[in-house]
Amino acid sequence: MHSIEFYRTEFIKYLEKKTQIKDPKNLYEPISYILGLGGKRLRPVLTLLTTDLFGGDYTKALDAALAVEVFHNFSLVHDDIMDDAPIRRGKTTVHEKWDINTGILSGDAMLINSYQFFEDYTVDEFKELVQLFSKTAIEVCEGQQYDVDFETRDDVTIAEYLKMIEYKTAVLVAAAMKMGAIITATSKENQDLVYEFGRNLGIAFQLQDDYLDAFGNPETFGKQVGGDIIENKKTFLYLRALELSSPSEKETLLHLYSIAPKDATEKIEAIKNVFAQSGSVDATKKEIEKYTQRAFTCLNQIRLSEERKEILRVFGENLMKRTV
Ligand code: IPE
Ligand code: MN
Ligand code: MN
Repeated sequence: MHSIEFYRTEFIKYLEKKTQIKDPKNLYEPISYILGLGGKRLRPVLTLLTTDLFGGDYTKALDAALAVEVFHNFSLVHDDIMDDAPIRRGKTTVHEKWDINTGILSGDAMLINSYQFFEDYTVDEFKELVQLFSKTAIEVCEGQQYDVDFETRDDVTIAEYLKMIEYKTAVLVAAAMKMGAIITATSKENQDLVYEFGRNLGIAFQLQDDYLDAFGNPETFGKQVGGDIIENKKTFLYLRALELSSPSEKETLLHLYSIAPKDATEKIEAIKNVFAQSGSVDATKKEIEKYTQRAFTCLNQIRLSEERKEILRVFGENLMKRTV
């Protein structure tokens, strides 16, 4: 086994080798730009780590890890267009730096590239990996559509919200891990359990993401703080606040979520106050903890040495302490 930092460094070396800028520059420069902005590299690290955890060789998983990371970044380029987001990882988003058409086409090329990275696997591995990948990718699209639909709906339930974040975020974390398990050819039970671990961790991760979107430190968060509020995103914070707030707070919330002021500073502050006062912030933190614990329950059932399970436990705990 290696350290998380080792997997991250090895992955980045591989990524740089495999993604060179070529002609036409206007297609490939944005790809290299977004992939070079860094980020946590959470998903590819999980693919490599899971491969080694089950006794495989992480170098065999580098292509799958790359596929996952390039797909993820493709989804971010398109997501930033859809969310009208100005900043990603502390830098200008692709569609703002270039233009929307560039973001669309470079994103398309990345999606295609991500599939190409599976080409060197054996026929059997290829089939299993691509099947999982396609199922996941289509679920991400479904999650993204729900997210957009919810912006203009006022009857979104918490159950619907949880399904939405499971699809737009958690299934890719889950698939990233399961790919490592597939490459190592561990038992079907282990493959499914590691998927469930990743899915629950992914839900906790997105709940945390929503919390940070409102309450993160603008200096370090890397995205526009309050972006979800500006876009009237029906996050867990918002939905729980509606349930928990007093009639007057609720009215404030509903009103603020129906307007789009040019300068959103006041709107963001007022909404954050309701989130905090109503007890929704505490409820969100509890929900994050709940899904983290669910992930750990799945982890306990995996057939793996205690010592190796502990690596995933620590990884999960650190992820929930993050501020970016
Ligand atoms: C993005 O969800 C999910 C995908 C790109 C598939 P969000 O819109 O909530 O994520 P951020 O906050 O922009 O990273
Ligand atoms: Mn989005
Ligand atoms: Mn977004």
